[in-house]
Amino acid sequence: MCGIVGYCGEKNAAGILVEGLKRLEYRGYDSSGISVGFNNKLTVIKKKGKISNLQAAVPKDLPGTYGIGHTRWATHGEVNDLNAHPHSDSSGKISIVHNGIIENYIALRKKLTAEGVEFITETDSEVIPHLISKFYDGDLEKAVKECLKHLKGTYGIVAVHADEPCRMVGARNGSPLVLGIGEGEMFLASDVTAMMAYTKQVVYMEDGDVVVVDKTSFRTTDIRDNERDKQISTVGWDIGEMEKDGFPTFMEKEIFEQPQSILRGMKGRLDIDQGTAKLGGLNMTNRELRMVNRVIILAAGTSSYAAMTCAYLLEKIARIPANAELSSEIRYKNPIVDPGTLYFVVSQSGETADTLYAMRELQRKGAKVLGICNVVGSTIPRESDGGVYIHSGPEIAVASTKAFTSQLTAMYLFSLIMARMRDMSMIDGKKIVEAMAKLPDDIETVLKLNSHIKDIADKYADCHSFFFLGRGLTYPIALEGALKLKEISYIHAEGYTAGELKHGPIALINEVTPSVFLVPDDSLREKIISNMKEVKARKGPIIAVAVEGDKEVEDIADDVIFVPKVHEVMYPFVMVVPLQMYAYHTAVKLGRNVDQPRNLAKSVTGARMPASA
Ligand code: F6R
Repeated sequence: MCGIVGYCGEKNAAGILVEGLKRLEYRGYDSSGISVGFNNKLTVIKKKGKISNLQAAVPKDLPGTYGIGHTRWATHGEVNDLNAHPHSDSSGKISIVHNGIIENYIALRKKLTAEGVEFITETDSEVIPHLISKFYDGDLEKAVKECLKHLKGTYGIVAVHADEPCRMVGARNGSPLVLGIGEGEMFLASDVTAMMAYTKQVVYMEDGDVVVVDKTSFRTTDIRDNERDKQISTVGWDIGEMEKDGFPTFMEKEIFEQPQSILRGMKGRLDIDQGTAKLGGLNMTNRELRMVNRVIILAAGTSSYAAMTCAYLLEKIARIPANAELSSEIRYKNPIVDPGTLYFVVSQSGETADTLYAMRELQRKGAKVLGICNVVGSTIPRESDGGVYIHSGPEIAVASTKAFTSQLTAMYLFSLIMARMRDMSMIDGKKIVEAMAKLPDDIETVLKLNSHIKDIADKYADCHSFFFLGRGLTYPIALEGALKLKEISYIHAEGYTAGELKHGPIALINEVTPSVFLVPDDSLREKIISNMKEVKARKGPIIAVAVEGDKEVEDIADDVIFVPKVHEVMYPFVMVVPLQMYAYHTAVKLGRNVDQPRNLAKSVTGARMPASA
């Protein structure tokens, strides 16, 4: 989604803004632009397409030590130079960048047009600089606040004025905004990654905040000038984690990081002696946890498949009724909130609009909602009633990989805690703890299959359609495998529970439609093998992900990826990684842009509902 960066300090602003925008590229965008202030004048440069187009258009010696930049992901108006941000008022003295959606922009536009304002873009955002200009009498902060009173919708905004050098005014309502505090310089951005090269000292803005920033200080108030106290936080990871580290893409790097990211997510949380786990952030006593009689986990996309896996696991090992639900459905469904139900929201970014609003809707109805998130300081962890950070480290590739296995890790720990409070014996608990502790090594073993997986991916890269089939705990993994393949290779892929095949989808099986079967060594193995035979009988090619030494599967399948034997509930981990690698190699073979697939954004924040509950 759109990205914002703003700078004021002593250095050349244009260079810092373009570099910050490059750091935000991973979020997905279609155009970009900057506005830089110098000598009571703002220079605005905007370009459709890649940031390299913008970079080529920005003169190397463009003077100015303050300014704002933006990467746009079009919502209102086509993708072109003009519709890109920053947007300006008619005098060219005011520039703004905006993330979010102004819902009442048509009415505002009509009103301003009637007052003589000429609009030059098709965007909703252009009403903002014109409104600020209307209220401006020498004080940008005052004019921005007045403007905000007229806006309905969501925003993260940063504004600058040519006559107020080295000053930025930012505001947040539903779209993230972070202040970065450097040595004699300040940053405002939608995401800490934009400023990590300069500072790790940050202040996360909250909905309703207005922040006024100069080179050395900042002040935060609400729209009516009431002071709002802020805490300075330190970002807990390094800029090095945002580099490709010799890998050709972030996605491959992130796939290969999984032994370490899973380990980080477990660190200090496994209790080997008691065969259980500890999760500090739940904010719940053991007594409260024991009273829970149902768990509902909400999420979107890949995170929803992690949620679904864990709902299966909770029922299996803790014997608690559990469901995963899509946030985009719950959000509009008027959910029934039951006091005995514990709700989780799972989100890598912590900003996904559907998940955030679903959480707020549940909280409004009295639910206790815990978050499972990666991005520290993002909105969901700040607004949830407790939760767990997955400590995956920054995930830059649009397609989620390491965050998925880290989400599983966090929720496996929770499931183990719940299981040990109920039916599970210490001996069985210890077996799960040992199996989890061994996971980083098991994933290392799977990663060694890289070139074998590449060969298989190359072999089938010309196929137009795939099935991914699993059962029980690996059914959500089949769904995730299909999603990974379609989002980065653009090949049609369907995930199904293998048991459903004969109820319809089998009609599509033919010689050129491969099926990827997940065959763990568990109680459902025989069932899956029968499903494989159904496909084989119809001449469908089969790629199996099976357990080392499974001769029977090897005999039926055309190609096999053997994973190590693990505890029966750990197969989702060792089976999802080969599917990530499979999708990756297919996409590379087809020449796709792996890290930034078409039409996708890293964090889907395009919300259309008022932010506050
Ligand atoms: C797919 C992918 C998306 C996200 C979904 C939710 O690879 O990354 O499906 O999982 O948009 O995002 P978060 O987890 O940030 O809420």
